[in-house]
Amino acid sequence: MNSQLRIHILTLFPAMFDSPFKHGVIARAIAKGLIELHMLDIRNFSSDPHQRVDSMRFGGGPGMVLRPEPIAAAIESTGNDRHVIYLTPQGTPFTQHHSERLSALNNLTLLCGRYEGIDERIRSLYVDEELSIGDYVLTGGEIPAMVLVDSIARLVPGVVGKEESVKADSHSSGLLEHPHYTRPRQFKGLSVPEVLLSGNHANVKLWERRESLRRTLVTRPEMLQDLALSQDELDWLLEAEPKAARVLQKKSK
Ligand SMILES: C[S@@+](CC[C@H](N)C(=O)[O-])C[C@H]1O[C@@H](n2cnc3c(N)ncnc32)[C@H](O)[C@@H]1O
Repeated sequence: MNSQLRIHILTLFPAMFDSPFKHGVIARAIAKGLIELHMLDIRNFSSDPHQRVDSMRFGGGPGMVLRPEPIAAAIESTGNDRHVIYLTPQGTPFTQHHSERLSALNNLTLLCGRYEGIDERIRSLYVDEELSIGDYVLTGGEIPAMVLVDSIARLVPGVVGKEESVKADSHSSGLLEHPHYTRPRQFKGLSVPEVLLSGNHANVKLWERRESLRRTLVTRPEMLQDLALSQDELDWLLEAEPKAARVLQKKSK
């Protein structure tokens, strides 16, 4: 069976990927052949007798830069249908929308930098997209690559058993997900909301939608800016969270 998504990870430290994908959902997806992960050691593409892949910067200054030749050779080995992503703190912040788009591709090449980063000419000649996992600087692109793989792979059809659960996840629907409860019904004096025990499907759905709106409003109000709320939803939020919901009231005027 041909996998739906091949991912090549170009790194100086392929052994870092030994463990993260040997567990849970992603390990099962690999075992089922739904996704393929190929770790390529950039050093293996170096023509230097000592397999050196970095050099001092032109112009001077501290820190080494990854040379372009081995990276170019490694990228070229990943196939012509590749989509090359360079992980960099200078990139566009990675979101669920990126994940959704990238999970529909067949061949992703993730390039992990180290030291001061990579020679700029690789960015000009080979990189299709630059993504960051947040406004902070890590020592290498390996952990960001793991973040992308984990998030993208779970959206590949068949990887997560119930696709509706993926659609309801935070950020997929444009909202944060509502709270969840399981057994026992009582825990350290706190009970499960009565409606969830009622067996009334319509009331459960209404509760989930409202709590999802409430949670988003309280912790990530900016996410509601572009979302069309019904008058009922707006009225409910104004009653449940009067202070936080005032900003929405202003917007709807
Ligand atoms: C020490 S960083 C280099 C930072 C670079 N000198 C700069 O100021 O933009 C080394 C490598 O880690 C990776 N990296 C660090 N922080 C990252 C982040 N927030 N998101 C994605 N990749 C990151 C990149 O691949 C980068 O080439």
